Amino acid sequence: MELALETRSPSEARADVLVLGQYGDGARPAPEIATLDRALGGLLSRVLKTEKFEGKPGQISYFHTAGAVPAGRVLVVGLGPLRRGARARDAEPIRRATAAAVRRARDLGAATIAVFMPAAALPARERAQAVVEGALLGTYRFDKYLKEKNGKVVRALTVLEPDRRRAAAARDGVRIGRISAEATVLARDLVNEPANVVTPTFLARRAAEIAKEGGLALRVLDRAECAKMGMGAYVGVAQGSEEPPKFIHLTYSPKGRARRRVVVIGKGITFDSGGLDLKTADGMLRMKDDMSGAAAVLGIFQALPRLKPPVEVHGLIAATENMPSGTAQRPGDIVRAMNGLTIEIGNTDAEGRLTLADALAYAVKHIKPDEMIDMATLTGAVVIALGQGVSGVMASDDALAARVLAAADGAGERMWRLPLHDEYKDGLKSDVADLNNISSQRGAGAIVAGLFMREFTGGVPWAHLDIAGTAFTERELPLGPKGATGVGVRTLLTYFSNGRR
Ligand code: BES
Ligand code: MN
Ligand code: ZN
Repeated sequence: MELALETRSPSEARADVLVLGQYGDGARPAPEIATLDRALGGLLSRVLKTEKFEGKPGQISYFHTAGAVPAGRVLVVGLGPLRRGARARDAEPIRRATAAAVRRARDLGAATIAVFMPAAALPARERAQAVVEGALLGTYRFDKYLKEKNGKVVRALTVLEPDRRRAAAARDGVRIGRISAEATVLARDLVNEPANVVTPTFLARRAAEIAKEGGLALRVLDRAECAKMGMGAYVGVAQGSEEPPKFIHLTYSPKGRARRRVVVIGKGITFDSGGLDLKTADGMLRMKDDMSGAAAVLGIFQALPRLKPPVEVHGLIAATENMPSGTAQRPGDIVRAMNGLTIEIGNTDAEGRLTLADALAYAVKHIKPDEMIDMATLTGAVVIALGQGVSGVMASDDALAARVLAAADGAGERMWRLPLHDEYKDGLKSDVADLNNISSQRGAGAIVAGLFMREFTGGVPWAHLDIAGTAFTERELPLGPKGATGVGVRTLLTYFSNGRR
């Protein structure tokens, strides 16, 4: 999709479909929309009245202009109530409304679309960014394996910002929106690709391409190197698979002095069969998505050299399959992680925390970061706790947790903190090793996994995002179709950009 910013007013915009956002609850139309209505001889206000358009979120009315203005059709989309106060600056209604409107315009056959969103609630940059994110994410499709593709595609999208004083900010918003949406799309594509394509080797190759494009440092460790470095927990998970594991370490360094050094870790199980503690057919069906954290990391590293935040960022992916075989790890095995702790394998299906344990220990030992954030499709329990719409956040540091949650809010990704309740750690005791990888106690599975991982953070402030419920959707969402969501990408990109402006 070509993207552009124009300082034209809606009444001068040239496009197959002109999209206009309208707040509800009787909100007065923006002055630019009143001007357009006059140019149309009052047609706009008449249509909205007879159609009983109330500006409800996602509500759409459209009509032909019959040549009265350069745009062929006008499509008005509801933004919901314009709330003053705490959440009045919320970008999510604009993202969602744009997504719905652009999808509809596309289905009506529009190849070129111009979008005008009223300035009432959001500064120009954030508004333009939200429009572009909504348009790109809302029209996302994964159709590369389909013989019959839907031929309707939007060729060009223009964001309208009639106020020239705001043009520079809006242009910046278009640029940032494109970068963040394209990073999300990269993550979605990787997760939607099946596990016979996306192997650890494939992830390492993709990381190499991203490193080359962005001028990033890259280190990839193979099975023998990981074993030699002492990553017994990670290597133990990988030992059942014929696909060679790849430990991927990407580094983005800003031009000037870095304000801080952050490690981002993504769970990279390219297929989770459960191992010898084999999953059921139903439980295994979707397990190609068990590398969603890794996909988010790669999306983020595509974006970082384009966004250039003043932070040094390291990306780690301990990629492997989790497979049953004659060489697979057995229940009851004892492995030693890089930080020296021994782990009894209570269940081979609790593999994510084992791979992440060594990634965390590697970060502490070799990178010495100021803080660490991991993203992982880690537990079925978080889906029970929070459902498919909210990611779980666990953290060893309250300030870090607050910053991550604020970034998630800005990105429109729902996240909720769960407590790392110390007493639940008792369940992870083993008679023969320092830790068991599963708990002997019932319940709080997401928290227990978090407590397990905290043992490998070496006291470095750490936040853990359990995205098991949110990485993949079985139903269409406002910002995308069924399948991978790319969750985490926009939250962390917002996180790295926050505090700069
Ligand atoms: N990848 C799964 C978690 C998962 C479950 C993600 C459902 C998405 C949807 C993880 O490796 C796993 O198998 N976790 C087990 C842990 C248990 C054995 C302690 C689980 O949640 O059942
Ligand atoms: Mn598992
Ligand atoms: Zn898993």
